[in-house]
Amino acid sequence: MVGFSTFVTLLLFLPSLAASLTTDGLALLALKSAISVDPTGALDAWLDSDPDPCGWLGVTCRGGRVTALALSNRSLEGYLPSELSLLSSLQTLSLSHNHLSGPIPTTITALRSLVVLDLSNNNLSGPIPAEIGALGSLSHLDLSSNLLNGSLPPEIAALLQLSGVLNLSCNSFSGQIPPAFGTIPVAVSLDLRQNNLSGEIPQVGSLVNQGPTAFAGNPGLCGFPLKNPCSDGANKQDPNIPLPNPNLNPSSPTSRPIEAEKRLRPAMTVTILAGAVLAAIFSILVLQWQFRRKRAAGELKASTKVKGGSTAVTEHRREGQSEEIYVAVDGRFDLELEELLRASAYVVGKSRSGIVYKVVVGPGSALAVRRLSEAADGEGDGDGDDWRLRRAFESEAAAIGRVSHPNVVSLRAYYYAPDEKLLIYDYVPNGTLQAALHGGQPNPTVPALPWAARLAIVQGVARGLTYLHECGPRKSVHGNIRSSKILLDDELRPYISGFGIARLLSGTQKFTHSGSKKLVAAPGRGPHAAYLAPEARAPGAAATQKGDVYAFGVVVMEVVTGRPAAGCGDGEGELEGWVRRAFGEERPLSEVVDPALLHEVHAKKQVLAVFHVALGCTEPDPEMRPRMRAVVESLDRVGSAR
Ligand SMILES: *[C@@H]1O[C@H](CO)[C@@H](O)[C@H](O)[C@H]1NC(C)=O
Ligand SMILES: *[C@@H]1O[C@H](CO)[C@@H](O)[C@H](O)[C@H]1NC(C)=O
Ligand SMILES: *[C@@H]1O[C@H](CO)[C@@H](O)[C@H](O)[C@H]1NC(C)=O
Ligand SMILES: *[C@@H]1O[C@H](CO)[C@@H](O)[C@H](O)[C@H]1NC(C)=O
Ligand SMILES: *[C@@H]1O[C@H](CO)[C@@H](O)[C@H](O)[C@H]1NC(C)=O
Repeated sequence: MVGFSTFVTLLLFLPSLAASLTTDGLALLALKSAISVDPTGALDAWLDSDPDPCGWLGVTCRGGRVTALALSNRSLEGYLPSELSLLSSLQTLSLSHNHLSGPIPTTITALRSLVVLDLSNNNLSGPIPAEIGALGSLSHLDLSSNLLNGSLPPEIAALLQLSGVLNLSCNSFSGQIPPAFGTIPVAVSLDLRQNNLSGEIPQVGSLVNQGPTAFAGNPGLCGFPLKNPCSDGANKQDPNIPLPNPNLNPSSPTSRPIEAEKRLRPAMTVTILAGAVLAAIFSILVLQWQFRRKRAAGELKASTKVKGGSTAVTEHRREGQSEEIYVAVDGRFDLELEELLRASAYVVGKSRSGIVYKVVVGPGSALAVRRLSEAADGEGDGDGDDWRLRRAFESEAAAIGRVSHPNVVSLRAYYYAPDEKLLIYDYVPNGTLQAALHGGQPNPTVPALPWAARLAIVQGVARGLTYLHECGPRKSVHGNIRSSKILLDDELRPYISGFGIARLLSGTQKFTHSGSKKLVAAPGRGPHAAYLAPEARAPGAAATQKGDVYAFGVVVMEVVTGRPAAGCGDGEGELEGWVRRAFGEERPLSEVVDPALLHEVHAKKQVLAVFHVALGCTEPDPEMRPRMRAVVESLDRVGSAR
């Protein structure tokens, strides 16, 4: 109402311009009149005598309509007038780093073309209008560093186009995090730091994958991934849900049912349960990026004691020791360690060997940081042992750093301290091959990969693996090939990740006392057993190149059948046995191939040829399996013969 009358007043007092200036221009003049202080004179040349506003500072037009208004860092004081809603073609509204105050007018949710809304670093107050959910094209939303309050509207989760960082940090938002935020794509990094949010972080969807930095600075928040557990009954609708327990036995993963999971698909549920278990395990190994400044060493040591139970911790740590190393693998990497540790980090993956974070180091620039697990750590034998461990880490990390192939994730730097080991890689943005094939995070509803893309992925992985097998002087082995270790970029180019981690861990684990938990699970069991060659299932079997070839063959079967390696859970057993039986029984190809590929009939010959490559790779007798170089050649022939 107020806005409308201002607008009318404007029209009454400036009758001459009403005739000439466009509506967009009038809306901008309303903004000009709402700005009380303009020290840089940014708006001086916004004149009502102009026919249109397209030449004005900060204004971009297309087809005579204003599409962008960008006036950041101009020390503007004033408020946002509701007339801004008249800029109906506006796609970018960027007014960050000013001193604008007052509320965000609800009417700006009428700007349905808005793609970028950046009002960060102002003095805006009041709530986020719930109607923001109507801005269906919005991909960048930054309202950080204002005085906004009230609860977070669940409607934000309806913004399906969001990408990059959803930044609501440094405001005064209160109340609980809406569970709907779990539906925000996992590729979006959430930043809710420095607010007054409270209650348990809902363990649903992508919220499980956000790192602790997403939630820091909200004293009332609890639960994973923060270190303060939720106290009894705090913000719980269902008092029967057991609390996360740091001593939770990892072998009883179902002991923490989650209310919301009933509505989720089974694959998602598994992820979430795994997340809950890991929450329990890692809540004691608190993620402390700024450990150096805060000297969290004492805390970590205390936690280790808790976990080890009766085992006495005999480690002697000298504070301030200079046993850290931080090495950039190539000269082009110049990120300071402090910068890296300060940057926002978001969990993108978890495994026994540690947690992988996406670390945002600049606009549009991210790294993947693998924080190696300390699970079997903390029971060292003193200084000599530390020295040995550091040397072992250094040489293994350097070996990983020498690997350079377009289908292998590049290591950029590594960091070692007695209580912290980090591997810093390029960030590969498009999730894992496993997710692309079987759905699940980050894209629960992925469109099926076309055959050409699948063939190219399989060929790329084969080339990467061949390189790994042949690059070094020693016979290197990956040892952990599976579809979740193959990352895809925006062009669906595959990158093998995880190379060298097994060696790094086995070479640099401190000796554990007998009876303490082993980091590496017994072979032949667990969710990844389906990738293990028969000879590798025996206890104590070493990883071999032939084992990698077998695992690669299973990955190829996944790619062609669209079925998970462990089988579909309907009594058919593991994928490899199922495929082999299907071929033995000469079942029609249409029963074996991913149904999503069936319409691509022209590819039938290629599909069959790739099946035969996969069957060769998974021969039970390791001597019968081809070398990766031969596999590459076979696959290349498949690609060229049509
Ligand atoms: C704002 O502008 C000043 C100079 O006009 C510059 O020093 C400062 O870095 C700018 N800040 C931002 C956040 O762009
Ligand atoms: C916000 O307003 C307060 C006073 O209310 C002032 O001290 C502060 O500098 C303002 N901040 C900005 C970014 O304008
Ligand atoms: C969110 O905004 C704050 C302040 O505006 C900034 O310091 C922070 O880096 C942003 N978060 C991310 C993840 O970019
Ligand atoms: C938000 O802040 C305003 C003052 O800026 C206050 O009047 C209002 O009660 C606050 N709302 C909530 C929900 O805290
Ligand atoms: C934070 O929220 C609580 C209620 O949840 C309120 O009592 C408290 O005053 C708030 N603190 C700040 C700094 O706004």
